[in-house]
Amino acid sequence: MRTKSAWSDLKRVVLPYWSTPSIGWGWLFFLLALLLAISFINIRISYSERAVFTALEGKDAATYWHNLWLYAAVLLCSVPIVGSFGWVKSKLEMAWRNWLTTHILDRYLANRNFVKVTSDLVDNPDERIQQDVSYFCTEILTISMALLDSFLAFLAFVTILYLISPTLLVVAIVYSAVGTVATLVFGKRLVGLHYDQQRLEAEFRYNLVYLRDNAEAVGLYNAGIREGKGLKARLARLLHNLNSIVSWQRNLTLFKVTYDYSLVIVPALFAAPLYFTGHIELGMMVQAASSFGRIIGALSVVIAQYQTFARLSAITSRLSDFVGVLEEIEQNSDEKGPGRIATKLASNLALDDLTLNTPDGARTLVRNLSFSLKPGSRLIIAGPSGVGKSSLIRAFAGLWTAGTGEIARPDLDDMMVLPQESYMPLGTLRDQFTYPKAGTECGIADSRILAVLKLVNLGELVGNAGGLDATKHWTEILSPGERQRVAFARLMLSSPKLVLLDEATSSLDVTSEAQMYDFVTATGATIVSVAHHKTLIGYHDTVLELVPGGGWRLIPTDVYQQ
Ligand SMILES: Nc1ncnc2c1ncn2[C@@H]1O[C@H](COP(=O)(O)OP(=O)(O)OP(=O)(O)O)[C@@H](O)[C@H]1O
Ligand SMILES: [Mg+2]
Repeated sequence: MRTKSAWSDLKRVVLPYWSTPSIGWGWLFFLLALLLAISFINIRISYSERAVFTALEGKDAATYWHNLWLYAAVLLCSVPIVGSFGWVKSKLEMAWRNWLTTHILDRYLANRNFVKVTSDLVDNPDERIQQDVSYFCTEILTISMALLDSFLAFLAFVTILYLISPTLLVVAIVYSAVGTVATLVFGKRLVGLHYDQQRLEAEFRYNLVYLRDNAEAVGLYNAGIREGKGLKARLARLLHNLNSIVSWQRNLTLFKVTYDYSLVIVPALFAAPLYFTGHIELGMMVQAASSFGRIIGALSVVIAQYQTFARLSAITSRLSDFVGVLEEIEQNSDEKGPGRIATKLASNLALDDLTLNTPDGARTLVRNLSFSLKPGSRLIIAGPSGVGKSSLIRAFAGLWTAGTGEIARPDLDDMMVLPQESYMPLGTLRDQFTYPKAGTECGIADSRILAVLKLVNLGELVGNAGGLDATKHWTEILSPGERQRVAFARLMLSSPKLVLLDEATSSLDVTSEAQMYDFVTATGATIVSVAHHKTLIGYHDTVLELVPGGGWRLIPTDVYQQ
């Protein structure tokens, strides 16, 4: 959830990585050492320049050449130091990104939190995990290093400039103060605009991905124009916001360029009179101008980095919001809290006085339901559409927990739910059958997979697809009925104790449907089905009929069929 300040947003995202020892600390020390070395080199360069120009002014060739070679030596020594700074910074960014992405992913995936992160809590979590984390690590390091560099430069050149001209030092401080205040005023709006831009870009991309995922359905409706309207409206909103960014950016840049150009003139205005009256040499005048530039550069870090500040601030609050939502979900994940259905492990499914509500608590779907299933028994849930049949399955599987009473069930690893839409993971054909276990590590021999495929009438699939190692977009290639049969193959390969079938055969012909039920019944698993086809009732021994408003009836199948 939104935290109160930018500071607490920053702490929430930064602290977890840096509060424990890691490789990142090694890279950070390396980076700081390089930064110190670069600051030292800059001071050396300033003095070398001064000596070169003074020798030039005095037409002292020997001193000139001596100092020029010294200058060249300093520049040469600085090559590996300056050159490796960016590389070390990138290594640190990568280490941090790796840790932060894994940390957020672990929390997102734990306890099936990704199901609870709904779009009204957080928009586009995928973009936050992939893009925001990456930008965050890069930009916070860019800014931190710029601030530190500025601080060191200020310390170094403030003394040099003071020794040459205290007036010029005062001018530098006033000059950069004016610049910073003006930039803050100009750029304030940019932070909010960048935040909105991130969201609008992500929404536009999500809509494009959504269209691709549903291409066939949209194609069948011949709704390209209708979809295009939605997409173009999003594009227009995105561009409208971008237009505001560009305008504000233009103002900021106009100011920045004026400010930067004056930098050439202002030190000359103050240092030249000192030179002409003989108070300073040419070398000192050159050094004063470059020191003035360095001090302004240091003090104007806010101006130079304003866009990065604006973007970083937007990204930090997006990441902090996301982490906040995860924290909230973790805190609420205590199954024993009030208004939560209690769960306990048992060898079979048993409900004790279960009342199930929708997650928002707005509706009660089932009231005071109690039953206990014997091993191998088979229950079918019936009732009109929208009454709460799938919701009960969700509650049995532990996804929905709002309500009261208790559910006793086997460990989730001993259960399998087959929904109407079979999920096909990205990966090989083998992965489709061994899911949710990882394809090559699950210890299921290919010969066994092939045997089960024959049972579910998918024997030809392996040959047609190019073998069990073939990788394709399976959701697009397989028909809904084939996907349902893949799910049954999965079920038979994992032999769970409790099977929950939610319209899992809705796309199959009557013969195939009967076949699937015969196979599952033969495994001896306890079965809870949701199905509209009357033909399936005979495969079960009890019917649980749900009535709108939370009512229910438990009836033996033979009585129900009379
Ligand atoms: N995330 C949610 N938040 C609030 N209400 C929801 C949510 N998901 C579903 N519902 C509502 O819960 C009710 C029960 O839905 P459910 O999917 O269990 O119906 P069903 O009996 O399986 O219907 P069908 O036979 O059409 O599949 C519906 O009115 C539905 O709109
Ligand atoms: Mg349903």
